[in-house]
Amino acid sequence: MLMDTRTMLAHAQADQRAVAAFNVYSLETVQAAVSAAEKVKQPVIIALGERYFGTVDVEGFAAMVRALAAKSSVPVALHLDHAYEKKSIIRAIRNGFTSVMYDGSKYELEENIARTKEIVSIAHMVGVSVEAEIGSLARGAFSDEEEGDGTLTDPQSAKRFVEATEVDFLAAAIGTVHGMYTGEPNINIGLLKQIREAVRVPLVLHGGSGTPDETIRETIRNGICKINVNTEISMAAVSYLKSVHEDAAIPHLSDVMAHMQGVMETSMERFIRLFGGCADV
Ligand code: 13P
Repeated sequence: MLMDTRTMLAHAQADQRAVAAFNVYSLETVQAAVSAAEKVKQPVIIALGERYFGTVDVEGFAAMVRALAAKSSVPVALHLDHAYEKKSIIRAIRNGFTSVMYDGSKYELEENIARTKEIVSIAHMVGVSVEAEIGSLARGAFSDEEEGDGTLTDPQSAKRFVEATEVDFLAAAIGTVHGMYTGEPNINIGLLKQIREAVRVPLVLHGGSGTPDETIRETIRNGICKINVNTEISMAAVSYLKSVHEDAAIPHLSDVMAHMQGVMETSMERFIRLFGGCADV
C-alpha cells in the first residue's frame, strides 16, 4: 500500500533501521524496487528527482507508482528527490507524492531557512512531509546529480535549521558523495553523532552507492533512517545493456527490459537487506 513517508520513517527510527530510497526513471526501475522490497518484506521509497521532470511524464509516472503501490504487499512511499523549484514541489504534491525534498543547500543558512519554511508551510497544509538539506555532497564518478562543494553539516546549524523550518527529515552531509568514490570513503561518524544529538528528526543519508557495508551499518546505528541510492543501480543496468550491445544477435526489447529489471532488482534487494539489518548480506 502507499504509505506516507513520515509514518514509514518514524517506524524505521523506532526500529533502528533505514528505508532504501531508490532513484527511478521508468516502469522497470519502479517494478524492480517494489518487487525487491516485497521479496525482503521491507518498505521502500520510490524517488523521482526534479532533474527527470524533463524526460518523465510526472502525472503518468505518479499514477503508475500509486497503482503499483496499491497492490504491493509492502508499504511504498513516493518521494520527490532534490527539487529546487517551488513549482516542481507543487506539481508533486498535486500528483500524490507522499514527501518532497526541497534542496536549498546552495543558499546561506538564513536564506535556506526562509525558502524551506515556505515549502514546509505549503506541504504540511496537505499532509505531505518535507526533507531538506544543509551542507552539500561532492560528486564522485558516474553520478547524475548536481556538483556540490562537499561542505559537511554543522550540528548547531542543523539544530537551528530544523527548529526554524519544522522540516520532517534532514539530509546530513557527513562525507558521502553522489556517485562512486574516487578515493577512500571518508565518512565522519563522529559528526553524525553530534548531529543526532542536536536534532531528533529522522536523518537521511544521500550518496548510498559505493559506501562500505560496515559504514552503512554504523550510520544506521547513529540515526540514519533513509538512504538514497541511484548510481550503483544505474551502473548494474547499463553494464548489462553494454553486454547486450556486444552480442551479435539482436534480442527483442521486451526481453532486454525484463532482464535489465532483474539485474536492478538483485542489486536493490541487497541494499534493502543491508539497510533493514538483515543478517544475510
Ligand atoms: P548515489 O548516486 O551515490 O547512490 O546517491 C543517490 C542520491 O543521494 C540521490 O539523492
